Amino acid sequence: MRNRLELDKILFMPEILQGQIDCRLSCKFMGKTYNLPVGIAPVGMSGAIWPGAEKILARCGARNTIPYCLSTVACALPEDVGPIAGHMGWFQLYVPDNPEIRRSIIGRARNSGFDKLVVTVDVPADSRRERQRRSQMTYPPRLDLPMLASMVSRPRWCLQVLREGMPTMRLAESYLDRRQKSGNLFRHAGRVIRGCPDWNTIAAIRQEWDGHLLVKGITRPQDAVRLVGMGIDGLWVSNHSGRQFEAGPASIEIIGKIRNAVGSQFPIAFDSGVAGGLDVMRALAMGADLVFLGRAFHYAVAALEGAGAEHLVYILDADIRANMAQIGARTLDELEYRLISKA
Ligand SMILES: Cc1cc2nc3c(=O)[nH]c(=O)nc-3n(C[C@H](O)[C@H](O)[C@H](O)COP(=O)(O)O)c2cc1C
Repeated sequence: MRNRLELDKILFMPEILQGQIDCRLSCKFMGKTYNLPVGIAPVGMSGAIWPGAEKILARCGARNTIPYCLSTVACALPEDVGPIAGHMGWFQLYVPDNPEIRRSIIGRARNSGFDKLVVTVDVPADSRRERQRRSQMTYPPRLDLPMLASMVSRPRWCLQVLREGMPTMRLAESYLDRRQKSGNLFRHAGRVIRGCPDWNTIAAIRQEWDGHLLVKGITRPQDAVRLVGMGIDGLWVSNHSGRQFEAGPASIEIIGKIRNAVGSQFPIAFDSGVAGGLDVMRALAMGADLVFLGRAFHYAVAALEGAGAEHLVYILDADIRANMAQIGARTLDELEYRLISKA
């Protein structure tokens, strides 16, 4: 909620009489040119929201030349998604404590064609997520009466599950032995895959991954500066949409400070609370180079499968163009000069 409140505080001053405005929305980020300053954020278990969602979103990224970031805890394997995402594929890593498993996952991501590795650091422990508990959502889905009633009312979802298989954390499962597979699969899988990384872990990953390396979940400018000093190639400012910790600052409140701390040229991605083209413009104006949306793309796929994701890209493109015209901006670089005040 704080993300929304703080995004709404960011205002632009319209500049009048600018004539016909044809905006240029493509952007360069870490050696690639993207058609829009927008990407699809990693979401674990996307395939539970809509079976096959990972492949649908990877296809959407490739078709529209925008990045798609596959989660470590996706329902699809990097080997199946990487070739679909093509040059638009990024891989998000939750760091396992076991360095052999870590190196194996990194190798599999590289061999599957992902050229950017995103290490998520804002999940140091499980969070309780009271709303999720109240909704009685469980992994794996518990086949009790409310769940069965919900399934009956969604026959297309059920059919799709028959095609794609039950949603599970496939990558994590591939590291479980038979004994673990027969117990509580999700608890074991979660433990195998998500460890407690520290600064030394980041230094080790820097040695193990020779492609572009980003760290996701940055809030403190001091941490950003330290990461830059360690040879990280890009930062991803995010508060995980407040899912992990409710009393932290909104990401949009702190991106300006992080931008100031690392300088104007250092690549910064952003997410948390972005709900449309105007929010994308707000984040860019405050210092982001590329803005990711997680939930929005998943709502779109849940509603209309692949057509939903395509339609969201269309809406974002049209919304950014329309709003840039209102303030007389032709390029993304001009946005910060239209801000009424910069925190
Ligand atoms: C259901 C759900 C699952 C998520 N899973 C992951 C994940 O596996 N890895 C990760 O780095 N971030 C994960 N995130 C965080 C998103 O990548 C993103 O940072 C966050 O949702 C903010 O973007 P949004 O406000 O556009 O949704 C998840 C978010 C949601 C809502």
